[in-house]
Amino acid sequence: MSSATSALFEPLALGSLQLRNRVVMAPMTRSRAEAGDIPTALMAEYYRQRAGAGLIISEGISPSADGIGYCRTPGLYNQRQVDAWGNIVAAVHGEGGVIIAQLMHCGRVASSLNKSADSETVAPSAIQAKGEMFTDAQGMVPFETPRALTTEEIGRVVEEYVAATRNAYAAGFDGVELHCTSGYLPAQFLSTGSNQRDDQYGGSVGNRVRFPLEVLQAISAVDGANRIGFRICPDNPFNGLSDDDPQQTFDTFLSAASALDLAFIHTIRMPRGRVDNLALAQQYFPGRVIGNESYSRDEATAAIESASLAAVSFGRSFIGNPDLVERLRNDWSLADFDMNGLYNPGEKGYTDYPDYSA
Ligand SMILES: Cc1cc2nc3c(=O)[nH]c(=O)nc-3n(C[C@H](O)[C@H](O)[C@H](O)COP(=O)(O)O)c2cc1C
Repeated sequence: MSSATSALFEPLALGSLQLRNRVVMAPMTRSRAEAGDIPTALMAEYYRQRAGAGLIISEGISPSADGIGYCRTPGLYNQRQVDAWGNIVAAVHGEGGVIIAQLMHCGRVASSLNKSADSETVAPSAIQAKGEMFTDAQGMVPFETPRALTTEEIGRVVEEYVAATRNAYAAGFDGVELHCTSGYLPAQFLSTGSNQRDDQYGGSVGNRVRFPLEVLQAISAVDGANRIGFRICPDNPFNGLSDDDPQQTFDTFLSAASALDLAFIHTIRMPRGRVDNLALAQQYFPGRVIGNESYSRDEATAAIESASLAAVSFGRSFIGNPDLVERLRNDWSLADFDMNGLYNPGEKGYTDYPDYSA
C-alpha cells in the first residue's frame, strides 16, 4: 500500500466510537424487514458481510409505528425488534465491527399502505409532500397528507426517539445517528416549505431548529453525547423538501448543535446547492466530519489527508462489494450492483455479492 492511500485505513476515535479504519458504510434502506417492522436473520448476514467497514451506519430505523414511511422497513419500538436487532449487532461485533443505529422518522414521507393499521402519518404541518412512493399493495401512490402534530404531541415524539435510543443500546448498538435530511421529520421541521406552524416549533429560524435540537439533546441524555451523531444535507430537495434560506437555517442549527459535544456530523455534499455543506460542517464540527456522496478512493484519501474530513461514508459501493475496505486497500476493481435487488425482498441482490478473493 502506498503512503498516498494509507489515510483511509488509519484508526479513528469519534467520541466513544473506535473505528478500525475511515471507510464508513452509509445508511441504506433495503426493505428486507418482515411484518411488524421486524429485522430478519437475512439482514444479520448482510451486515455481517460488511463488518469490515470502520463504522456501519444502519439503514433508517423508525422510532415508532407512526414514523414508518416505506414498505418492509424496520423499527426499534418494541421488544421483538430489539431482540432481532440484537442478533444483527452481535453478528457485526463478532467480526470486530462497529455499528450504530440510524433513527429515521419519515413524517409526511409515507403511505398508510406501508404501515400498521393503528399508526398515523404526522408532520409539523398538514402539507402534502410532492411525489410518490412504492407500496407492495398498490405500486406507486402519492405521499399522504399528514396530520399536524399538536405542541404537546411533539414532546411525545421526542420521547419516542429517546425510547428508541434506549432500545438501540439494549440491542448493543455502539451509538445512534439522527437522520436530519432527505425530507424526513427533522428536515420537515427545519424547512420553511413543510413547517408553517405558529407555535414555538415554527416560524422563526430559532423555532424551526427547536425540534431536531431537542431530539439531539434528549437522546444525548440517555448515555452521553459521545455516541451520538447526526446527518445533514442543507438545501436537499429530496422528497419535496424546500427551504427559503438553508444557509441561515443550518448556521443556526449547527451553531447550537455544536455546543452538545456530539461524536460526529455526517454531511452529504451537494455541489449544485446554495450552501457549501462540507464547509459548513467543518466550521462547526472541526475534526468530526464524515463526508458522503460519490467519493472515489483517491478523493476520499485526499480529503482525509488534508484533514478536511475525519472519515468518508460509501453507500452504493457497499451494495455490490461487501469487502469494500479490502478492495480499496488493494486497489481491486469494484463490482456493480443490480438495481432490481435494491428494495425487493430476499437474498438476491442483497447477500449474494461475493468477496473479491472469491
Ligand atoms: C438503496 C439506498 C438506500 C438509502 N437509504 C438511506 C437511508 O435509509 N438513510 C439515509 O440517510 N440515506 C440513505 N441513502 C443515501 C446513502 O446513505 C448515501 O447518501 C448515497 O447513496 C450517496 O452516497 P454514495 O455516493 O457513496 O452512494 C440510501 C441510498 C441508497 C442507494
